[in-house]
Amino acid sequence: MVMTTDAEGSTLQLRDVRKSFPDPDDPVNRRLVLPGISITLAAGELVSLIGPSGCGKSTLLRLIAGLETADAGELLIGSEAICGPSAERGLVFQDPNLFPWLTVRRNIEAGLVARGLLQEKRAEVDEFMRLVELEAFANAYPHHLSGGMAQRVALARALINHPKVLLLDEPLGALDAFTRMRLQDEVLRLWSARRSTTLLVTHDIDEAIYMSDRIIIMTPRPGKIDQIITIELKRPRHRTSSEFLQLRGEILELLHFAGGERTKSVKADAPTI
Ligand SMILES: Nc1ncnc2c1ncn2[C@@H]1O[C@H](COP(=O)(O)OP(=O)(O)OP(=O)(O)O)[C@@H](O)[C@H]1O
Ligand SMILES: [Mg+2]
Repeated sequence: MVMTTDAEGSTLQLRDVRKSFPDPDDPVNRRLVLPGISITLAAGELVSLIGPSGCGKSTLLRLIAGLETADAGELLIGSEAICGPSAERGLVFQDPNLFPWLTVRRNIEAGLVARGLLQEKRAEVDEFMRLVELEAFANAYPHHLSGGMAQRVALARALINHPKVLLLDEPLGALDAFTRMRLQDEVLRLWSARRSTTLLVTHDIDEAIYMSDRIIIMTPRPGKIDQIITIELKRPRHRTSSEFLQLRGEILELLHFAGGERTKSVKADAPTI
């Protein structure tokens, strides 16, 4: 389900985005990572990106975040070209990357402080601390936290800026299975309330089906779009429903991880959107 009304999010368009890096084995040459990716996310859409390690998923997110520059192609938020980092694009990495010298509360507040909004939004800091269940750790420093707790701070820190585009690079990968499922629900709850356009990198097919409007499957490097699967299950989704499990099986078959013969019942769109 894609809702375009009342979305805080904006359309995200990538047109023929190409990226290469100097080849570490042969610095004269460049290693092609993304040969020309075109994707459009509707305002408020939640799309997952799945693909083999090294295919360029993080590179794609870093390009959208404005932390890397594309060799060619266009990246647009609404009608504006991306030309550097901005608070309107929140990024949560695999690694929480917290400021080690700041407490949990100050880490969550950091974006608001930088934009002079702390006074106005102080109540939201408390709300987000509750949301990630870290009120008791408000004055703790990152080195006091478990990896999972640190990742929850990183998530709160990005969401509190109400980003137009939220970029999540396996943000829940470090969490235990139960915390992860609970946080999936929390991310979904926030997403449905605010509708930041969200691009989620995950290696977890269940997470992708549970959360996404669409799943984009990438090829090995150089990363191209292999398949786009529209998830038509109504929300809230049930991880044990027969439709969910059937879809899971079909996607595993598409990815050649199911074993046995492939079936073609899953609905995959043409890889241009
Ligand atoms: N700054 C860089 N300089 C040189 N090569 C880079 C740089 N960043 C990424 N790469 C290369 O680009 C390719 C894609 O890396 P990327 O981190 O985007 O993969 P990924 O799909 O996110 O993988 P994973 O699932 O393991 O996180 C890799 O071959 C990597 O070595
Ligand atoms: Mg990565």
